Amino acid sequence: MKDRLIVALDTGDLEDIEGISGRLMEMGVPWVKLGFQAFSSVGVAGFEWLGQNGHRIFLDLKFHDIPNTVARDVGMMTKHGVHMMNMHAAGGIEMMQAARVSADAASSRKSRPILLGVTMLTSIDGSGFQASFGSERPLTEQVVHLARQTQEAGLAGVVASPLEIEPIRAACGDDFVIVTPGIRPKWAATGDQRRFTTPAEAITRGADYIVVGRPVLEAADPGEAIKRILDEMM
Ligand code: C5P
Repeated sequence: MKDRLIVALDTGDLEDIEGISGRLMEMGVPWVKLGFQAFSSVGVAGFEWLGQNGHRIFLDLKFHDIPNTVARDVGMMTKHGVHMMNMHAAGGIEMMQAARVSADAASSRKSRPILLGVTMLTSIDGSGFQASFGSERPLTEQVVHLARQTQEAGLAGVVASPLEIEPIRAACGDDFVIVTPGIRPKWAATGDQRRFTTPAEAITRGADYIVVGRPVLEAADPGEAIKRILDEMM
């Protein structure tokens, strides 16, 4: 389970990043997720430092641009040793294919990063999706559609809500990687997340990796929060 927990270091505070990543390593949890805040603090030099400390890096910059631009972004980050990164599946098959080709060219078979398509943000619920996208489609149908497109483009998997694991598995199979944010232990505040489950439920439903941010970052004792989440995952 320790390899399946990804802690989102959603902070720009270097002391917090060092403190929490240190606790994670002590507990044998390698994955950390860096978004814009952490990335703008640690930069690419931070990848090396985190890598030397034994971390695996999920760079969550959710690329969404024309194929040429995303391919270059992904190629560059692959060269910097990122282990997992994502892009909005809504950017289209051509964009995702270009990213995959670029990552392949920039890496060896062993160092190839796990590329993921983001389906729909877990802060958006069914009515929010229909209002923002002017669509009458049920949200789950849209998520499954985007997951299929991601698979067709040759990416390893998707980021989706734990509530959508079953239909994605049915459409894309057991080898397709499913990473689920929208995780809330019973003792944590829900914040802006709308489509969430507990860590145990996400694992039972078949998530390959779960992403947890604020329940750890905002805990009085982050180390204790990580331990409780791991216990819940077992
Ligand atoms: O703090 P919390 O546990 O809600 O953090 C979830 C993390 O996962 C955040 O970094 C957020 O940006 C990210 N994420 C998400 N929903 C997605 C994709 C990424 O919550 N669909």
